[in-house]
Amino acid sequence: LLASLADRPLAGKKVLVTAGGTVERIDPVRYLTNDSSGKMGFAVAEAARELGAEVTVIAARTSAPKPAGVELVKVESALELREEVLSRYAFADVAVMAAAVADYRPLRQEEQKIKKTGDTLTLELVKNPDILQELGERKNGQLLIGFAAETENVEANARGKLKRKHCDLLVANDVSAEGAGFGTDTNIITIYGSDGSSLPLPLVSKREAALRLMRLAAEKLGPAAK
Ligand code: CTP
Ligand code: CA
Repeated sequence: LLASLADRPLAGKKVLVTAGGTVERIDPVRYLTNDSSGKMGFAVAEAARELGAEVTVIAARTSAPKPAGVELVKVESALELREEVLSRYAFADVAVMAAAVADYRPLRQEEQKIKKTGDTLTLELVKNPDILQELGERKNGQLLIGFAAETENVEANARGKLKRKHCDLLVANDVSAEGAGFGTDTNIITIYGSDGSSLPLPLVSKREAALRLMRLAAEKLGPAAK
């Protein structure tokens, strides 16, 4: 039993992970999205499963191979992602918001393909709900993990998000660094904790970074948690 606890510190835990970039429809054939590949979210899902957790992944648009041994729920938009995440959050021990959620969506989704008319076209966008912030506000014993992709002032921005969104851990990713960020197989992350801690990781594979993150999550949950 002790050996299995050491190898599978997330056994008996439910981990909810979001991955990929949301797709925000403009019309039936056009949309706004971002460069997220879903690799980091999928790596987190696989790491959690390897450590013994029961894992559900809510995946928006991705280009990475699907993770094995986990429940996969596909969504398109931020609003759909929100629905799927909120309906499962109460049952989760750990929630990881690795998805790149579009900050804005088109105000109107046209039912017909937009016709080419004038020389300019203005798209009106409206803010999407901040899902991670909502999870923070509804926290009920879950360990909440956010991500932040930054190009400048990484630590200050990351700590600001950690606090504002009531996260326990926040994974900051300097996407301007070589070998880090969207589409790559490696990452350079620092994991900030609500206790003021910071854990900088060297350039490692997304798999390794994910395993480190999930081991830390298991430590934070503790053997007697939930
Ligand atoms: N996030 C979310 N819902 C949104 C936007 C972001 O849940 N509408 C989550 C992301 O999944 C990530 C974290 O919030 O875990 C931080 O996302 P990020 O884009 O870095 O921060 P924002 O709060 O959107 O701020 P900004 O883009 O202005 O830096
Ligand atoms: Ca954002």
